[in-house]
Amino acid sequence: DPVDTSYYNEDYRPQFHFSPEEKWMNDPNGLVYHKGIYHLFYQYYPDDIVWGPMHWGHATSKDMLHWEHKPIALFPDDHGYIFSGSAVVDTNNTSGFGTEENPPLVAIFTYHDMEGEKAGKNDYQTQGIAYSLDNGDSWTKFDGNPIIKNEGIRDFRDPKVFWNAILNNWTMLLVAGDHLQIWQSDNLKAWEKVSEFGKDKGAHGGVWECPDMFKLNVEGTDTEKWVLLISINPGAPNGGSGTQYFVGDFDGTTFTTDQEVTKWVDWGRDNYAGVTYNDTPDNERIFIGWMSNWDYARDTPTEVWRSANTIPRNLSLHKNNGTLELYSYPIANFDEIVERSYAEKPVALKPGQKTQIPLKFGNQSEIRFHLEALDSKWIFSNPEGDSLVLQVNQKDKIFSLDRSKSGKVDFKSEFVNGIQLMPIPNVPEGPIEVRMLLDQSSLEIFLNKGQYVMTNQIFPNADYKELTMENTSDTEIKIDSLMESKVMRIWN
Ligand code: FRU
Repeated sequence: DPVDTSYYNEDYRPQFHFSPEEKWMNDPNGLVYHKGIYHLFYQYYPDDIVWGPMHWGHATSKDMLHWEHKPIALFPDDHGYIFSGSAVVDTNNTSGFGTEENPPLVAIFTYHDMEGEKAGKNDYQTQGIAYSLDNGDSWTKFDGNPIIKNEGIRDFRDPKVFWNAILNNWTMLLVAGDHLQIWQSDNLKAWEKVSEFGKDKGAHGGVWECPDMFKLNVEGTDTEKWVLLISINPGAPNGGSGTQYFVGDFDGTTFTTDQEVTKWVDWGRDNYAGVTYNDTPDNERIFIGWMSNWDYARDTPTEVWRSANTIPRNLSLHKNNGTLELYSYPIANFDEIVERSYAEKPVALKPGQKTQIPLKFGNQSEIRFHLEALDSKWIFSNPEGDSLVLQVNQKDKIFSLDRSKSGKVDFKSEFVNGIQLMPIPNVPEGPIEVRMLLDQSSLEIFLNKGQYVMTNQIFPNADYKELTMENTSDTEIKIDSLMESKVMRIWN
């Protein structure tokens, strides 16, 4: 029976983001669309609200917004805990686990052997598979596991598998500490390594984790490019965990890029280990991230459950001023959970002038406006004295966020490590759209339709009740098409 979620009312419980019913969650795993259903698996520890022996939790959805909790899909076994990985629909039954009439769902994951690690070995992470013939309801582990053994690489994990339409076989991306490995297979069981990437590219402030790779059309052109996502922890631009991306080419076996600079999917502190769906209808590229950061993930002030996911986001590639940028923007059907909207009057602010907008729907809101001439400061506040400060500086092309007084912050010193900065080098002159999703314990900010994005957890002592907007420039600024909306609660 579906779990009763009517009580999803605890302090900080996300009302329109996915969170597990109870206990600890980290990375999204096995994102796959199959027979009209979006599957979400996730790193899960069912016995505590801190990280522990990893399982794959499971939830399903028809729209990636309303979720049904399912029984745990994968449990630890003699090979170890079940770490992150992916899932595919084996349409041609290449694995032989099913039939062509009933193709298997196959999960590909990392086994983490805790005993091996404790014994000081280096080969404790291997790769395994499991299959389901009943649309993900029950899973059988392959008796030939592990399918990829380890030759002494300490961090060797997070397999992302997808169908390779260039070679008509399966591609697996695996991370090995400081680089990506690409493997291939005809049957999901026997794998061969075909290339490596990245020892001398991108950010290396921490271990490489959770790879993903896909093709995107450069908007408005016929050019196709491949995008590689790599999560690193630590080493994110604002501290701790973050996800970088590379734009390049893939010939079926090897990924190459001439990208010199490091690029980031999201500049906020709470979007990690994000990956995309396999097999979506219409070939959309949809991304979900874990809305936390290893710097303080285990310490956030919730008691029943811990962590939530980002809103699912559509990824697209755009060329601006000669540089390719990955945009991420809430999926289109998010609009269907927008319940009521109020249009506010356009505002013109003289230099130094402020305006106060009451937040009718508190921390269950979408706020959208168009901003002309960008220099301004926006402050979310509540009667408890909490304030969350956002600022755009057009001249220096910097957006900043200060959550030091946003509510509860002292549960772990790393939660506030200074003001977060996001360069916005190619933001157009304006007007640009600003869109913010404010839930009970998170704020997602999308500038110019997802060109620049910041995701952050917040733990205010009460709902924010007011948004103060201040002109910090020396010219008049205009705030237009300001819309405040109530977002529907997604649980029963
Ligand atoms: C990323 C990660 C993965 C690993 C999983 C373990 O957050 O460290 O690399 O598979 O979490 O739970």
